[in-house]
Amino acid sequence: MKVAVVGGTGDFGLALARQLAAAGEHVVVIGSRDAERAQAKAAAAGAAHGTHNADAVQGVDLVVLAVKADAALPTATELADAIGDTPVLSVASELRFTKTGVFPTDETRSVAERMQEILHGPVVAGLHSLAASSLADGKAHGDALVCGDDAAAKELALTLAADVVTGDAYDAGPLASARALEGLTAVIVNLNRRYKGHAGLDIVGL
Ligand SMILES: NC(=O)c1ccc[n+]([C@@H]2O[C@H](COP(=O)([O-])OP(=O)(O)OC[C@H]3O[C@@H](n4cnc5c(N)ncnc54)[C@H](OP(=O)(O)O)[C@@H]3O)[C@@H](O)[C@H]2O)c1
Repeated sequence: MKVAVVGGTGDFGLALARQLAAAGEHVVVIGSRDAERAQAKAAAAGAAHGTHNADAVQGVDLVVLAVKADAALPTATELADAIGDTPVLSVASELRFTKTGVFPTDETRSVAERMQEILHGPVVAGLHSLAASSLADGKAHGDALVCGDDAAAKELALTLAADVVTGDAYDAGPLASARALEGLTAVIVNLNRRYKGHAGLDIVGL
């Protein structure tokens, strides 16, 4: 599969790009607002190449939108025409960090659902439970969850997800499930803070 990781210069996108490239079955393109930075990070991650975000999304099977969470929707707006009908995987979770804990925002709908209103092609959401630090040195431990309303796009994202975790990639239902998956990130970060670790998910009973 040919995959563009928009924001692939960041902690999560770079770790994801590295693991996808290591899997050996994908052509990975790193996108950035700065083409030179993208090229340097692509070389470091073993990706095929790096370029400006709007060029990175051309001719790929799947776009992973991995920019900083509060830039996800503005970036989707900026790249909507460049992305066209290509499926997009949203990994963003909007979180509010406070001294007493990490909270989801008060938005009723997920980032992914709002992104679907901006983009022309199908949006799926997933990989929220995979910490960048866990992905940095190898496959992330545990399972991955992906949700979406478009079956073909979800299948692409599930294939990608299965290649970067030690466990399995599971279909978690419609795009509205992203409300729970994005909220779960707050739970995971709170666990990490309390127990000083890198929590992941293991789905049991299936
Ligand atoms: N960190 C994790 O453990 C983790 C786990 C699961 C999911 N996620 C999700 O993955 C996404 C990236 O997280 P991260 O921790 O990797 O973030 P990050 O390192 O803070 O940022 C990722 C990239 O976003 C781009 N960016 C920053 N500000 C931007 C702006 N205003 N407009 C457009 N692009 C901008 C930057 O790329 P350029 O400057 O090169 O353009 C940056 O390298 C988030 O949506 C997050 O919720 C993170």
